[in-house]
Amino acid sequence: MNKSRRPLIAGNWKMNAGGRDALGLATGVAKASAAYDAVDVVVGPPFTALAGAAHALESTGSAVTVAAQNMSAEASGAFTGEVSASMLKDSGVTWVILGHSERRALYAETDEIVTRKVAAAIAARLRPIACCGETLEEREAGRTMEVVERQVRAFLPELAKEPGFGVIAYEPVWAIGTGKVAKPEDAQAVHAMIRGLLWQSSETLAHATRILYGGSMKGDNAAGLLSQPDIDGGLVGGASLDAAGFAKIAAAAQELAR
Ligand code: 13P
Repeated sequence: MNKSRRPLIAGNWKMNAGGRDALGLATGVAKASAAYDAVDVVVGPPFTALAGAAHALESTGSAVTVAAQNMSAEASGAFTGEVSASMLKDSGVTWVILGHSERRALYAETDEIVTRKVAAAIAARLRPIACCGETLEEREAGRTMEVVERQVRAFLPELAKEPGFGVIAYEPVWAIGTGKVAKPEDAQAVHAMIRGLLWQSSETLAHATRILYGGSMKGDNAAGLLSQPDIDGGLVGGASLDAAGFAKIAAAAQELAR
């Protein structure tokens, strides 16, 4: 972590806690993380719970904001089942996770689609959390840097239009939901490479862009990752479903930010 950037800890609930349990989890996170005022804390419920969570957080005066997990690249029209950026914005949503590896692998999202979504989000004033990360096969073939560079180069020109508005999340696919967290120095090497790509665009973009790590991040391994110079926060899956456990990650970020 570099003290010039405010740490961001975002939860990706995936397809969990989208019903009655969502409000309890969102307000539980707000309570458990209220003391960590040097950290941006974000919850990421499924579509069905976004407006409710955003409303509940806003009415309690919480600083916790809400992220959607996906959206359409289209603005409106005959796209049955899809949700647009402006609809999310109107529902009180601040962020949108785009290009998550599960979307890429299970729903065939290409670099081109992810880039169109990043552009559509920014146009609607929704802040993108653009994801990248290599698979186990790619890592074992020594292709980590090449794959992540390709993914980042695709959406980077969109992020460059407004330095600091969007965020990048590096999530090695083999570390997601497996309990196999990346070694802090290995994650740092990829984050530094990404920072270098941002530098090629502009110094401002490199300084302003927060790069999150995701993949089996938990309260007990967060400090090691977050103490790396180019790791500015976390995108947390499993551990974000428990308010107290998630708040421990925010606590680790707060400690390093002070
Ligand atoms: P886990 O924290 O469960 O490994 O998930 C990470 C992730 O995919 C967040 O987007």
